[in-house]
Amino acid sequence: CGICGVVGLRHATPIVLEGLRRLEYRGYDSAGIATLVDGRVERRRAAGKLDNLASLLEREPLAGKTGIGHTRWATHGAPTTCNAHPHGTQRVAIVHNGIIENFETLRQELEAAGQVFETETDSETIALLVDYYLQQGLSPRNSALKALKRLEGAYAIAMIFAGHEGLMIGACNNAPLAVGFGDDELFLGSDSLALAPLTRRITYMENGDCVVITPQGAEFMTFDGTPLVRPVQITALTAGSIGKDGYRHYMEKELHEHPLVIGQTLQRMIDPATRKVTLPDLPFDLATVPRAVITACGSAFYAGMVGRYWLEEIARLPVDIDVASEMRYRNPPLTPGSLGLLISQSGETADTLAALRSLRADAIHILSVLNVEHSTMARESDVILGTVAGPEISVASTKAFTAQLTILACLTIATARARGKLDPLGEEELVAALMDLPSRAAEVFNQGAAIRQMASIVAEARDVLYLGRGSMFPVAMEGALKLKEISYIHAEAYAAGEMKHGPISLIDRTVPIVASVPSTPLFDKTLSNLQEAKARGGRLLVFTDTEGAERVSAIAEQVVVLPRVHDFVAPILQTIPVQMLAYEVAVLKGTDVDQPRNLAKSVTVE
Ligand code: G6P
Repeated sequence: CGICGVVGLRHATPIVLEGLRRLEYRGYDSAGIATLVDGRVERRRAAGKLDNLASLLEREPLAGKTGIGHTRWATHGAPTTCNAHPHGTQRVAIVHNGIIENFETLRQELEAAGQVFETETDSETIALLVDYYLQQGLSPRNSALKALKRLEGAYAIAMIFAGHEGLMIGACNNAPLAVGFGDDELFLGSDSLALAPLTRRITYMENGDCVVITPQGAEFMTFDGTPLVRPVQITALTAGSIGKDGYRHYMEKELHEHPLVIGQTLQRMIDPATRKVTLPDLPFDLATVPRAVITACGSAFYAGMVGRYWLEEIARLPVDIDVASEMRYRNPPLTPGSLGLLISQSGETADTLAALRSLRADAIHILSVLNVEHSTMARESDVILGTVAGPEISVASTKAFTAQLTILACLTIATARARGKLDPLGEEELVAALMDLPSRAAEVFNQGAAIRQMASIVAEARDVLYLGRGSMFPVAMEGALKLKEISYIHAEAYAAGEMKHGPISLIDRTVPIVASVPSTPLFDKTLSNLQEAKARGGRLLVFTDTEGAERVSAIAEQVVVLPRVHDFVAPILQTIPVQMLAYEVAVLKGTDVDQPRNLAKSVTVE
């Protein structure tokens, strides 16, 4: 979910609406805005995407200079207008991101005290709790503080109060919230992206912070009311950095940013003079960490899987890996002093954050690979390596994924060197392979027509099988995930060698097989697996490279030929066309590419 709020001298609704547009990637099940009109709380809410709210606001405009808004990814309660935020009463309106874990207890208590609930949401409990204290004669500030002390769970909240023009109260605990400072106006937003066109002066709130905001300034305090000092930072984001730049979708634009982003990330990691990977100072020694534990969610997890292949093969470091929601609760026996490698675009994914905290409790060093460097995970890590991918707006990750791979490749080199597994010549070779990538990645776009042709076959299918071996297996998984996410076609990824142990029974003319087969040492073995599929009538759609093209063409229905790159970086290059394929299929199917149904980019609940 995303939160935005403003107090100032201007009409609040257009400001909040614009902020919500920039937060829509966090959820788009419903949206709403509340403002103060002549001291009264007024609100407009609509189920579905933000455009529905915008149309409603055209029919029924909302005046006022104090306003809060919300875009929702449903957790408790269906994505209806009734369950849409803001929630509230005549006295108070609130927007909330997160989950209130003790809401049932609070709700029973409030109902017993005569409060009447209108929705099924946990968030309404916050509103009615604050309202209860207001009714008892407490000031807005004291009501808010008293309510905050009773909430359990993760939350970012913004509140406004009837009769208190120019007052907004915010609070957060394990969910991000930022205060933006303008001239005679202040803002609240879930992230600096929401606030980018409004101001670059931002304070990131910390867990357990409450803030009282007026057009003149912000007062930070604990939930006990003890004053806090929080620094103002200047963000680098500008309004312009999140336009579509003439592309049809953000996803298309972000796909085209792969070469740039890989280049920018390398610039950060490789010293141009020595052409050696340079890491920031680490509070642990890569030479002696006994193991690595990698955890992440979604695409970031697949990046981690590629990282495992690299770290084990090249740096000879044993790696455990699991999705964060499993890692968190299966309580594996870990070796203290191990390296915990957390990967997340947003740095806010609740499952990954929970895993980070549990690893930390087990005395694991935390190194996080993050795209948002002001995120909660950034604050809680021992050290972060930033992917320089810029804002990623499309819900389906693209450029952040290749940037994560780029970082993991550099980390592998540094680890291998530290452990004596890579001599200077070896490092030089791998670094050269990485430095070559941005130009090779740019060449992938020459294959647009071939990829579109492949997409026309895939778009007709109901099920698709993705295959790859070694570090190309996670690439197949990323391809399958992307296809599912944005085209709603069922896809499954298998390690090519494992296909014969099950999914081979699925194969017929109606189930296309998409295989990623660059000419690495696993080329022959993978080709044999494709032969097995072909022998059973399978239609083979294959991504290979100039060296593998001839042999693949002999058996495949369609081949996309990519530049030949060093085996080490092949998974980075091969990711780009599988993502492009999913994009082209989604375009053919006419789905909502940037905002696929039921998903959110940043899932801040477990
Ligand atoms: C969501 C998105 C995925 C993303 C995952 C992890 O589920 O839909 O595309 O990969 O979260 O996000 P993160 O921000 O932690 O990388």
